Amino acid sequence: MNAKIIDGSAIAAGIREDVQRQVNRLLEEGVQPGLAVVLVGEDPASITYVTAKEKDCAQAGIFSRDIRLPGDTPQRELVDLIRELNRDEAIHGILIQLPLPGHINEDAVIEAIAPEKDVDGFHPVNIGKLVLNQDGFIPCTPHGVLKIIESLGMSTEGADVVIVGRSRIVGAPLANLLFRKAPGGNATVTVCHTKTANLADKVRRADIIIAAVGRPDTITGDMVKKGALVIDVGVNRVLDNTRKRGYRLVGDTDFSGIKEIAGAVTPVPGGVGPLTRAMLLWNTVESARKKAVKV
Ligand code: GUN
Repeated sequence: MNAKIIDGSAIAAGIREDVQRQVNRLLEEGVQPGLAVVLVGEDPASITYVTAKEKDCAQAGIFSRDIRLPGDTPQRELVDLIRELNRDEAIHGILIQLPLPGHINEDAVIEAIAPEKDVDGFHPVNIGKLVLNQDGFIPCTPHGVLKIIESLGMSTEGADVVIVGRSRIVGAPLANLLFRKAPGGNATVTVCHTKTANLADKVRRADIIIAAVGRPDTITGDMVKKGALVIDVGVNRVLDNTRKRGYRLVGDTDFSGIKEIAGAVTPVPGGVGPLTRAMLLWNTVESARKKAVKV
């Protein structure tokens, strides 16, 4: 059996259409959603990500304020900029691209963002709301993973989900979303990490496997139950001299081995990535909409 290859771009296109409808509605009311995208330093992968986010905004009719700061920008200056953006009426979302240079305390920077503009969903208030099952911003990648599962018409209720990776951006929020008492939740979730014993045994039990560790080939075909859904969140650059840019992107799974056994798999690229991008637009529009309702 060959697994269904999930087309993340097609699912994202449907979400972008929804976003577009919301943007048009807001524009009719005289409100243009606005996103500030802040990059500190010149990490090549981060430059690629923020450029894509800015392009996505332009395409959707969302105003983006693109701010590039030198790698040696003092933390104080970044926090002052965030405070200014918090007050800026034209800005509904603030995205500080991570990772930040080593001399900057990421927690302090994230906490400076007004929770109602934290479209990344990284602020402790939004993480707290997520855990408490209250209305707040859901981080974009976990949100995208939920949309992929939803698009397959698959119920998570009672499903055994194994998440490999406990990061604050993906693994930890996703675990909470999947076990919470809400539609798209109600799963039995196991979170595996670097200290997990017998990883293969745990992964083999899963109906849904989510790989989010940042290491190629962490999940191989022999670890996958027949017919399982495998969602690969990893984006890893591996050297490849046959490519013009000198590398290719791979996920955290051995894609070719897994697709013989799994029921459905997400490719890298073209799986989770397009959803992450779409959900940022979604959160930005949602932020503008909430503010428009309030005033
Ligand atoms: N770096 C890697 N992923 C993300 C993300 O989702 N948001 C931000 N701000 N930085 C990231």
